[in-house]
Amino acid sequence: MCGIIGYIGKSQAKDLLIDGLRRLEYRGYDSSGIAVRDNGELCVLKAKGKLDNLIGKLEERSFSGTCGIGHTRWATHGAPDELNAHPHLSRSGKFAIVHNGIIENYKELCDMLISQGYSLRSETDSEVIAHLIELGYDGDALKAIQKTVKLLKGSFALGILCADENALFAVKKDSPLVIGSGEDGIYIASDMQALLSKTHEFLLLESGEMAKITDKAEIFDFDLRPVKRQVYVAENDKSDADKHGYAHFMLKEIYEQPEAIERTLLSQGELSFLDGIGSIHLIGCGSAYHAALMGKYIIESLTGIRVHADIASEFRYRNPIIKPDDLLIAISQSGETADTIGAMNIAAGKCKTACIVNVPLSSLTHVAEPMYTYAGPEIAVATTKGFTTQLVNLYLIAAKLLSNKGDSRVNELMTELSSLPLLVENVLKTVSPVKLAFLLAQNDYAFFIGRGADYAAAKESALKLKEISYIHADCYPAGELKHGTISLIQKGSPVIAIATDKQLLSKTVSNIAEVKSRGAFVIAVSPFDIDACDALIKIPYAKYVAPLLASVATQLLSYHTALVRHCEIDKPRNLAKSVTVE
Ligand code: G6P
Repeated sequence: MCGIIGYIGKSQAKDLLIDGLRRLEYRGYDSSGIAVRDNGELCVLKAKGKLDNLIGKLEERSFSGTCGIGHTRWATHGAPDELNAHPHLSRSGKFAIVHNGIIENYKELCDMLISQGYSLRSETDSEVIAHLIELGYDGDALKAIQKTVKLLKGSFALGILCADENALFAVKKDSPLVIGSGEDGIYIASDMQALLSKTHEFLLLESGEMAKITDKAEIFDFDLRPVKRQVYVAENDKSDADKHGYAHFMLKEIYEQPEAIERTLLSQGELSFLDGIGSIHLIGCGSAYHAALMGKYIIESLTGIRVHADIASEFRYRNPIIKPDDLLIAISQSGETADTIGAMNIAAGKCKTACIVNVPLSSLTHVAEPMYTYAGPEIAVATTKGFTTQLVNLYLIAAKLLSNKGDSRVNELMTELSSLPLLVENVLKTVSPVKLAFLLAQNDYAFFIGRGADYAAAKESALKLKEISYIHADCYPAGELKHGTISLIQKGSPVIAIATDKQLLSKTVSNIAEVKSRGAFVIAVSPFDIDACDALIKIPYAKYVAPLLASVATQLLSYHTALVRHCEIDKPRNLAKSVTVE
């Protein structure tokens, strides 16, 4: 989703901005741009498509100045073209802004500006911000920005330049933005990750705060009352944002899973938020929702505690029934997903809340008790280690609930969990899906089936394939396929069946036979020898964690399929790593 970078200091801004935008690329974008303040004038350059297009244009122009802002745009309002790309200039060119979020009342604000004689150049909801600041400007940029933020409804992280002042302005409301203090100057960015090569010292803006940055950063609330903020020093993460010889971040992150899982297993605290709870709501979006769904099967079947799994964007608008002794756990790798935060806000004050989050101090951790995953930075848009470490936390939650009940199965579960890093390593060493990937790559669709927790694993596997290989994949509970969708099965239709549960094996095998007899080519992912299938991806046997192992196997299958199809694996088209608008 949109990325913001900003710099003010002693060095030339241009290269630092481009470097920052490079590091924000993983968030997903379809155009980019920068603005630099040069001798009291704001110079803007934008380009459609990849960052290289912007860099190409920069080579044709001189672009000097030590204060600037940059943006990668993921289109929401208006096509992904140069006109709609950020930064946006105000009418006279005195202000330039970059925005991440959505201005919900932009139509009213447009009408107001038009009645004042302004005309809008782009189709975006963001351009109004630049004009509004200019309209309220009487020589004090900070005041004009403050007047403007009071008019805006929605979510907005902003980087702003004023031609008259050698200063960088930042605003944060319900969208991520951090300030980083480096040796050569001060930066703003949508995430810490983008700045870790420059600094580990951050001032973390809270929602409803703004900053004026010169040779120091001054923070204010939206009423311009000064705010004091402690410096946060980010840890030096071992699994940094380099590919370390792997062809793609996704592959590197797949192979980092044994270590990430081990760190996550060893780093948990008391989990006291689980004491005395009634039922549990697990919410998330995308893969995090699939983790929630798997968590439902795992926790409910082991502990007998009712677990509801919900897609965050649905949960927040369906008047969910929340009881005071319920526990809502939001699951989010980034901790910044707008719908997940929105769903959390629905529950806040009504029941206990916690969150399973990977990014330290991200927005969700400010509103609910964090239970971190320790996956390290995840750069590939398609999550792998982020997802499996979320599952680890859900298994640990099940274990803690068993232990609270004095249920002795906790020992068996914990023993299996302690061997999980080795089991995953085993999958990574033994599963070699290249041949099957070539076969799958020739199709434009595939079906995934599974029962119980394997159904959740199958849903995640189907999403992974769709995301990175652009092969449409549909997923069904294995017993449900015959209720309609089986009409699509014909000779050669690829069906991937996940079957790790001994109790359900004969049922799933019957479902495999049903599609096979209609011509399907069935790939089973299982610890068991299944004669009915055409190909078997064999994974190690495990009583509890086998659906997680199956997910790792299908990550490899999806990766290799996307590779055969020459897809842009780390940055699939149209996708954003962290979706900060609803
Ligand atoms: C985006 C990503 C998905 C991810 C989802 C939730 O849609 O493309 O891969 O699963 O957001 O992200 P979160 O950071 O909340 O886990």
